[in-house]
Amino acid sequence: MKKLTVGILGPGTVGGGAYQILVNNHDLIQKRTGVSIEVVKLLTRRPRSEYPADLLTDDPDEILNDPNVDVVIETMGGIQPATSFMIQAMKKGKHVVTANKAAVAASYEELVMTASENGVKFLFEASVGGGIPVLTSIQNPLSGNNFTEVMGILNGTTNYILTKMTEDGADYENVLKDAQARGFAEADPTADVEGIDAANKLSILIALLFGKYIAPSDIPTKGISHVTGQDIAEAADENCIIKLIAHAVLKDGKISCSVAPEKVPISHPLAGVSNEFNAVYITGDMVGEVMLYGKGAGALPTGSAIVGDIIDIAKNL
Ligand SMILES: NC(=O)c1ccc[n+]([C@@H]2O[C@H](COP(=O)([O-])OP(=O)(O)OC[C@H]3O[C@@H](n4cnc5c(N)ncnc54)[C@H](OP(=O)(O)O)[C@@H]3O)[C@@H](O)[C@H]2O)c1
Repeated sequence: MKKLTVGILGPGTVGGGAYQILVNNHDLIQKRTGVSIEVVKLLTRRPRSEYPADLLTDDPDEILNDPNVDVVIETMGGIQPATSFMIQAMKKGKHVVTANKAAVAASYEELVMTASENGVKFLFEASVGGGIPVLTSIQNPLSGNNFTEVMGILNGTTNYILTKMTEDGADYENVLKDAQARGFAEADPTADVEGIDAANKLSILIALLFGKYIAPSDIPTKGISHVTGQDIAEAADENCIIKLIAHAVLKDGKISCSVAPEKVPISHPLAGVSNEFNAVYITGDMVGEVMLYGKGAGALPTGSAIVGDIIDIAKNL
């Protein structure tokens, strides 16, 4: 039986979800891939009673420099040290799987090049749309298309807030507090509500769809913190709904892109994407319009995308 060993940098929400799936569904995955996938090390800065004590380490080198670790899952978050750790792992011949959109979007070209130079895989399906298999779809079943446009609802927090503002007529501040209390918004919601998270994801989508890297800081970005009840009512009068849309269009060889609250006609498929759900609406010259929909966050949906990437590596052993 072939074996694949995995080290997880940051077994928090998402890393923990991936761990749970790899352990609970071990036999199913082994049956489907012919490979036994085993988590052998977890990097965390504090004791965590939910994991076997002998797997825990606070020393990154115990994963990055261990020749017995084949795949590194990076779910620490933040740009550094996550990016340096991923590069170090690939230079040591390890495949890397990550959910970290901020790190992928900030150093996309360097990360992809490091993987290619070292003959390893660098996979990041979980970084856009959580559990929705959007990047794999772009790179595999849809890859015979010239893509011309993408529109995405890529941030669950802002979609939840806009949905509640629309349905309940509540104002932004109150809905944000409610979202924080229910765990749909971070204590510091800036990256979500100001569109920064969606811009990171759009940067990754543009790279894969159009083969061109645009840094998130070069994407005109406007969040939802200034959207008012009056804006929503005016949109409704025009049979539209306000959504935070990550939007990119390729026309005459030029890419225009933005993240901003947009009026979406209620007849458009994206108008029905509510609460914390995400969706990506892609136009290809052969397939026409395709919409992928699902849970854009959460331990198990995002963990499912990470495990999908690991299965890809296992199948190609
Ligand atoms: N949460 C989601 O639903 C979701 C969805 C899609 C993508 N993502 C992305 O997934 C990544 C992880 O998010 P998360 O929500 O799982 O975060 P989280 O729950 O805060 O987990 C992060 C983990 O990384 C560890 N960590 C952070 N910095 C570290 C360092 N310098 N050295 C060692 N360990 C470190 C933390 O350890 P300690 O416990 O020691 O602090 C914790 O175990 C982020 O890039 C996020 O954008 C998250």
